[in-house]
Amino acid sequence: MLIVRAVVCRELGEPETLEVVERDAPPCGPGQVRIRVRAAGVNYVDALFVQGRYQIRPPLPFVPGSEVAGEVVEIGTEVDGWSTGDRVLASVGLGGFADEVLVAGSVPVRLPASVSYGQAATMGQSYSTAWFALQRRTVLAPGEWIVVAGAAGGLGLAFLDVARLLGAQTVAAASGPDRLRLCIERGAHEVVDYSTDDLKSRVREITGGGADVAADPVGGPNAEVLLRSLGEGGRLLVLGFAAGDIPRLPANQVLLRNRAVLGVDWGAWALTHPEDQHELFAEVLAAVDERRLTPVEPTAYPLDEAGSALRDLLERRVVGKVCLTN
Ligand SMILES: NC(=O)c1ccc[n+]([C@@H]2O[C@H](COP(=O)([O-])OP(=O)(O)OC[C@H]3O[C@@H](n4cnc5c(N)ncnc54)[C@H](OP(=O)(O)O)[C@@H]3O)[C@@H](O)[C@H]2O)c1
Repeated sequence: MLIVRAVVCRELGEPETLEVVERDAPPCGPGQVRIRVRAAGVNYVDALFVQGRYQIRPPLPFVPGSEVAGEVVEIGTEVDGWSTGDRVLASVGLGGFADEVLVAGSVPVRLPASVSYGQAATMGQSYSTAWFALQRRTVLAPGEWIVVAGAAGGLGLAFLDVARLLGAQTVAAASGPDRLRLCIERGAHEVVDYSTDDLKSRVREITGGGADVAADPVGGPNAEVLLRSLGEGGRLLVLGFAAGDIPRLPANQVLLRNRAVLGVDWGAWALTHPEDQHELFAEVLAAVDERRLTPVEPTAYPLDEAGSALRDLLERRVVGKVCLTN
């Protein structure tokens, strides 16, 4: 019997309570493929799952980790189209922090040769969300100004990359010189350090009156500042609340200048619209393959250090994306 490792959450709490266990690999059933995980994306949402702060609470115990990249190592009966050794990424919901995962044969997506396992394991959710937000929830037009909060984080970097591809002009808003440096390296047109600068006046100054779109995965007090920094017809995309506080927004600021506040819940949409998501992600991967999008290479932690990786993400100690490798 093959012994494999998995990171287990036995009770909701801090990331340090996660345990690495060894267990027998379950058999690969009909309709399934086994993926040897080479990299597992570490996302803010994984920490929320472990802490019990996410809107969905999986039954305990569970293995966190929602996206992986690796190679197909076993193929069950009734599966067509895969060969052992194929390089794939897979969105798995849970279970990704492990040496291997079993998924339905329809789940893996073939990787372009140009994409590393680390890039692949950290681009599914973030690029799908950015593409969904900027191509489906609103349409970011060439030449428009977008301001991205938390721009050096997982979602923020994907928004900068997608916005650049769409021909928009980008203002990256983030805290501290290391994060701003990464945003500049990633092609941001302008940067604002919102830990020291006045975000609203800087955005208005840079954009000549106000941004067209603001992408906000951070929440907290800056959400209202972002709304106020929008120009005529500006759209605020509400993406998440990494700062912890869910903001309340003044309706008069939505009315003024004919602004709009748009919710973006890519995860729920992808679950209920699997064919549309399949099409959307094919568009993303094609752009990656043609090098029109270039996902960053993540900071890698060993699988055994999943708790530290989540802690560093929560404490804002890492810049850019994070994955576990094994
Ligand atoms: N709506 C959707 O469909 C969707 C999809 C994926 C993720 N999300 C959500 O989006 C949010 C951000 O995800 P992410 O992957 O970008 O996370 P991330 O990589 O951890 O980045 C979040 C950024 O938020 C900023 N931040 C401000 N206060 C923070 C705090 N107290 N703790 C941690 N970060 C803080 C940090 O940038 P600065 O230090 O520069 O401020 C950090 O870079 C999460 O809430 C996640 O659940 C939503």
